[in-house]
Amino acid sequence: MSSTVAKGHSADRSPCAHPSAEQVSPAPPRRTAGETGHGRDDHQRAFPPGNRPAYGDDPRAVDADVTHAVRAVLDDVLDDQLAAAEAVDPLFGEDLAARVGRFTRSGGRLGRSRFVWWALRACGGDEPWRAHAALRVGAALELIQTCALVHDDVMDGARLRRGRPALHVEVAAQYTGVCNARRGERLGEAAAILAGDLALAWADDVVADTEMPRPTARRVRDLWRALRTEMVAGQYLDVQGEATSARSLARAIRAACLKSALYSVERPLALGAALADAGPVTTRALCSAGRCVGLAFQLRDDLLDAFGDPRDTGKPAGGDIRSGKPTYLAAVAQARAETSGDRSAQGLLRDTLGRTDASDAELAAIREVFMTTGARDLVEGKIRRLVAQGLRHLDTAALEPEPTRQLRMLMRAASGVLDGAASEVVPLSLTLATGEGAGR
Ligand code: IPE
Ligand code: MG
Ligand code: MG
Ligand code: MG
Repeated sequence: MSSTVAKGHSADRSPCAHPSAEQVSPAPPRRTAGETGHGRDDHQRAFPPGNRPAYGDDPRAVDADVTHAVRAVLDDVLDDQLAAAEAVDPLFGEDLAARVGRFTRSGGRLGRSRFVWWALRACGGDEPWRAHAALRVGAALELIQTCALVHDDVMDGARLRRGRPALHVEVAAQYTGVCNARRGERLGEAAAILAGDLALAWADDVVADTEMPRPTARRVRDLWRALRTEMVAGQYLDVQGEATSARSLARAIRAACLKSALYSVERPLALGAALADAGPVTTRALCSAGRCVGLAFQLRDDLLDAFGDPRDTGKPAGGDIRSGKPTYLAAVAQARAETSGDRSAQGLLRDTLGRTDASDAELAAIREVFMTTGARDLVEGKIRRLVAQGLRHLDTAALEPEPTRQLRMLMRAASGVLDGAASEVVPLSLTLATGEGAGR
């Protein structure tokens, strides 16, 4: 294991700093396995009989295919939980728990778990118990993501997710003909609330059941607690802003940081660092990088919502416009229309944002406003600057080179920017085909 003594890096210079950054618990300096007492005995304890990792004892085997390793851990976790759910009640098991399992297994690009993994490796974490814990924490993040998305689609009234009917839509469809349409829809939404709860409970179980030495466990649990609350806080700012048309630039950035930057990138990186017992400078470098790239990730998601193709994103197009989501994109467009005195753009934004029945032509008119006000270009430029800045933060710590290269690729892919300097945008079809890419 190599040293992670990092060069000095002054306090948080991230462009999206906010108070909850302080919740990153102060990291104890990284020590060797001998110093921490995590020798062979602890390693043995970390793998109870019957719970030995499918990939063997070698983290290098995980490096070769992180996605496969996370999926293997997720499969084990889900198999156990689904069997328990089925035993509690077969109807619950089939209608609800199995859907949580399918949604999670079908899941996305496993970006959060890959951030945990490569952060662990970039900090020099190479003992089997650390690898095992990192994969389990990654699996827990995928489960919490199931909770977030299933709830999100109810809150956003989105009917499509990952190219399939959203969970609440699917349950309602299952009961077509069994009960009337309104009851079916109510059932679908209730089922989605419960499915999200179940996924969150399973995620918590995974973290609670992951064996770690006490100081590491304390750091991991502090981060876990923080990210859960931040994600919910961000989602609340989002829907509250929608209802009240609160569309300030600062508010949009704050919501994006909470609902995405922290939960999707910064905290996963901090978890990887914690699992490696990384020191404060290294941890801070990763967190600062994660904050920048995490914000870029959400700004890209907002652009894709307005300008992407549902065949690529697997999500409805224009949903943010129809729901009046207080995105940074919309906030910039409004601010610019006001500053330039563009009455027509102001009127279009006022009359269309938040209108669930907006026609395709009205959506097109808002896209036009996003372009003519310069909001789209401004957001694109901000994404590129954020990614470049995030990548620079990685240079401020002595990280392991190859894992850091992987982190850089992951960061660029998450924000849809192929090259932080040249600022070439990754075609979404390519990123999806390779299992990389922006969006959820
Ligand atoms: C959701 O944000 C964030 C979380 C699920 C925490 P969005 O509402 O923008 O996500 P999408 O666009 O539906 O995926
Ligand atoms: Mg949504
Ligand atoms: Mg949402
Ligand atoms: Mg979105």
